[in-house]
Amino acid sequence: MNSVESLSALAASIEAPTGVRHARLLRWVGEIAALTRPSRIVWCDGSAAEYERLCDAMLSSGTLHRLDPARRPGCFLARSDPSDVARVEDRTFICSAREEDAGPTNNWVDPREMRQTLQRLFDGCMRGRTMYVVPFSMGPLGSPIAHIGVEITDSPYVVASMRIMTRMGARVYDVLGESGNFVPCVHSVGVPLTDGAADAPWPCNPKNKYIVHFPEAREIWSFGSGYGGNALLGKKCLALRIASVMGRDEGWLAEHMLIIGVTSPAGEKRYVAAAFPSACGKTNFAMLIPPAGFEAWQVTTIGDDIAWIKPADDGTFHAINPEAGYFGVAPGTSYESNPIAMETLRANVIFTNVALTDDNDVWWEGMTATPPAHLTDWQGRSWTPGCGRPAAHPNARFTVSATQCPSLDPQWDNPAGVPLSALVFGARRSDTMPLVSEARSWDEGVYKAATMGSETTAAAGGAVGEVRRDPFAMLPFCGYHMGDYIQHWLDMGSRVAHPPRIFSVNWFRKGDDGRFVWPGFGQNMRVLKWIFERCADRADAAETPLGYVPRYDDFDWNGFDFGPRRFSSVMHVDVGQWEQELSSHDAFFERLGAKRPRILMNERDRLAGRMAM
Ligand code: GTP
Ligand code: SPV
Ligand code: MN
Repeated sequence: MNSVESLSALAASIEAPTGVRHARLLRWVGEIAALTRPSRIVWCDGSAAEYERLCDAMLSSGTLHRLDPARRPGCFLARSDPSDVARVEDRTFICSAREEDAGPTNNWVDPREMRQTLQRLFDGCMRGRTMYVVPFSMGPLGSPIAHIGVEITDSPYVVASMRIMTRMGARVYDVLGESGNFVPCVHSVGVPLTDGAADAPWPCNPKNKYIVHFPEAREIWSFGSGYGGNALLGKKCLALRIASVMGRDEGWLAEHMLIIGVTSPAGEKRYVAAAFPSACGKTNFAMLIPPAGFEAWQVTTIGDDIAWIKPADDGTFHAINPEAGYFGVAPGTSYESNPIAMETLRANVIFTNVALTDDNDVWWEGMTATPPAHLTDWQGRSWTPGCGRPAAHPNARFTVSATQCPSLDPQWDNPAGVPLSALVFGARRSDTMPLVSEARSWDEGVYKAATMGSETTAAAGGAVGEVRRDPFAMLPFCGYHMGDYIQHWLDMGSRVAHPPRIFSVNWFRKGDDGRFVWPGFGQNMRVLKWIFERCADRADAAETPLGYVPRYDDFDWNGFDFGPRRFSSVMHVDVGQWEQELSSHDAFFERLGAKRPRILMNERDRLAGRMAM
């Protein structure tokens, strides 16, 4: 089967375009087609015409609804099946050869067993459907830091979304040539259409969902869901779970981080990357507009969800955003909280699970102070204020190209990335964690990031509001043993002469009245300025058990009335709460077993000593 003739026979049988000269790719597509038995194969070229054809077909099938072309030109609404609204962490698997390489925080199944399961699930699963071959690049096309993936999917919604979220299209085949590397990604909604069965507007398999990674083979298989990170396989599956394994093996980092540029009134520019768990404010921070009093400062957007961070020749870490679009949380987004996102969303957006207004526009909780008098909710039902149900699903999202973002940084597409001055780790904690602190050393910073805890959100299926340890905001996204991952972070600190400084933040501290004390959003600029000036050795701080922290007068309060009492209530460190916090750290280290890094144990004892516990 190695002869040129048999390869061209194969290419013809799977209708491959003439530009595809990659034998392994052709064989793989042939194998998946033979397994899944679609009615038709479409090789995607990424063109605007193709995108339009897909959207037209989805309008006919009821998957998409066109929004008012005057208010939202080029925009669509998709309503998912109510059983398919978020990532499914309990159905996500890391199938490394050895169980200990997946570690205690991942679901592991023996890869041989999982491959048998997948063969059974995918057998004939695309019958009656079109199979799309979607070539994409994470990172600038052809750049040495980019990685190519090819997603095979039977979901046109996934194809359209991948065109927005990645550099997708025929040019990827040119870069691949005859033998370039790519990550094979197989996706099916898991609902074959047999005997002419009618399709659902949002097909998915309510009983069987599998999001599977083979880290050694660098391979992804996803079955049964059409939503977000379960289905757009370039995002969490490739750019985080598989890329984190590549990073471990090759000496770099794949992180759940936004990247921003910050320019001071004097024109000095620094870049900051920040990790927050899902639905905890990355998109908001990535598009921050400096508040009154800070007009001369500028924040520019490089990425809102994922950063690949590599040691560079200039002695710093350089970061790139491997994505090309935003898959952002809609609820809470408004002209008050995030005007840049609102501007980004004026045209060419796929909205999923938001509410529909009577004049064919979108709405979600928090978009306006007063909801419209009548809406169609995310499940297509009539909705009025006070009916007791949210109009948009809490994990409703928008999918939009980064190029529409008014604050897009000129360097966002630079294959060399941007040098990082600071790393910020933030979590959602109504108590315990102060507004901001700075680690005294790389190792102390790694300790803070590794022991991060956060209240869960609607971004993942499961309970909301429970504190769980979410190291580096990577708990659901690390493709290998969390203990090895933390050790890798410790090791990376000495890989460059000038590692970034490490800060912790918490925008979510609540007062006795149950409300957020810190105003957040644009006002986070005050914290960002302090971080910026710390990196330039210009800002003062006090040394405390948790590291360096700003005193009231170390912040720039220009234009804002936030008194010392309120400041101390967001900075306060309660020893009782920290006793609990430390025992929760210990329970987490216990889970890591023998792979818990010894350096972290030392950091833990030092912290306990400083707290005098
Ligand atoms: P993923 O896309 O899921 O990875 O999440 P993300 O971190 O990009 O989420 P996003 O920025 O969309 O977070 C949205 C949630 O964070 C909403 O509930 C916002 O109200 C809340 N949020 C963002 N910034 C702030 C802030 O400064 N203060 C407070 N209190 N809430 C904030
Ligand atoms: C997250 O949950 O962190 C997201 C959305 O960014 S998803 O792509 O669905 O994972
Ligand atoms: Mn995310």
